Amino acid sequence: MSQISPDAFAIAEDGVDPGAVPQRLLHTGARMPAIGLGTFGSDHTPGALVAEAVVGAAAVGYRHFDCAAVYGNEAQIGGALRRVIAGGIAREQLWVTSKLWNNRHNPRDVRPACEQSLRDLGLDHLDLYLIHWPFPNHHAPGVDVHARNPDARPYIHERYMATWQELERLVDAGLVRHIGTSNMTISKLELLLRDARIRPAANEMELHPHFQQPELFAYVVANGIAAIGYSPIGSPARPERDRTAEDTVDIEDPVVVAIAERLGVHPAVVCLKWAVQRGQTPIPFSTKRANYLANLRGVVGEPLSDDEMRAIAGIDRNCRLIKGQVFLWKENQRWEDLWDLDGVIAQ
Ligand SMILES: NC(=O)c1ccc[n+]([C@@H]2O[C@H](COP(=O)([O-])OP(=O)(O)OC[C@H]3O[C@@H](n4cnc5c(N)ncnc54)[C@H](OP(=O)(O)O)[C@@H]3O)[C@@H](O)[C@H]2O)c1
Repeated sequence: MSQISPDAFAIAEDGVDPGAVPQRLLHTGARMPAIGLGTFGSDHTPGALVAEAVVGAAAVGYRHFDCAAVYGNEAQIGGALRRVIAGGIAREQLWVTSKLWNNRHNPRDVRPACEQSLRDLGLDHLDLYLIHWPFPNHHAPGVDVHARNPDARPYIHERYMATWQELERLVDAGLVRHIGTSNMTISKLELLLRDARIRPAANEMELHPHFQQPELFAYVVANGIAAIGYSPIGSPARPERDRTAEDTVDIEDPVVVAIAERLGVHPAVVCLKWAVQRGQTPIPFSTKRANYLANLRGVVGEPLSDDEMRAIAGIDRNCRLIKGQVFLWKENQRWEDLWDLDGVIAQ
């Protein structure tokens, strides 16, 4: 049951004109707003609060929402979307993404999983449906990074393609407009692009000033795939289990802080301006109106200078925050084994 308050939806006077928000042109000719609202409340933000943020964000001009079945809040977000649509925002003006969780890769599970997300979100189609991780290894949300599933497996391309072919059928059936990937590497994408009937429209990947993934970013751009950047602010509120001693903090970086001071904005806004100007689509999470409004205003406001863009390009620390340890499938593996660093898919 949605816990959304029954208040009518109304466009905010201090919001941003959605027509002014940059758009990404996808290989199908469709346009996707170049900033979206993240909806992963992790352990700390109840679904009702995230759903309220969806309504508030739509009121200030957001049209793109990044959802996933595993976030456990799609039914509440569905209540929010119904309120937004009933309030006068046409469904075609919204861009809604959802993701297939790792325990539903079996081909016979794909369509029911997608239909469940559609029911929860109250929609008859998704704009984008992603395979959330390239590993079918299920783990319960919120488990410690040392948790391992005894049935865990490496990436097996034939199995991934069997899942992908079901996503292609979702496009054929009109349930989803675009399909895409998340947490992929160049090695895995090369195989997918070789074998796919319907190409991925987008790849969702971790992207922030301290983790710019220049090779993967260039690869997806060169192949006409939109790069959607998750944790674009460096996920400052991520849970303890996702932190290590080596992690660095983007919003404390002196280069980011100096630009923020020049513009009179929070360093988070600088991360988002950089992301949109670089050509990726950030999906920042916030449930605070002042913050999500500042983030949207940031990407339509004064751009960073070429010198500032170059300065941020120079602060990459190769600092991956979401390392994926729970997907490891053998003893004595390192999280780096998940990311094909030497170009070989580990088995
Ligand atoms: N595909 C995947 O595997 C994957 C993985 C991780 C995340 N994601 C997606 O990416 C989204 C974003 O990533 P994330 O949630 O990890 O991190 P993030 O967007 O980098 O950071 C979110 C944090 O930044 C704060 N914040 C936002 N705007 C701010 C502002 N203007 N000033 C100050 N603080 C601000 C928020 O706090 P307040 O709420 O207090 O504003 C929140 O704590 C997720 O919600 C999810 O949709 C996808």
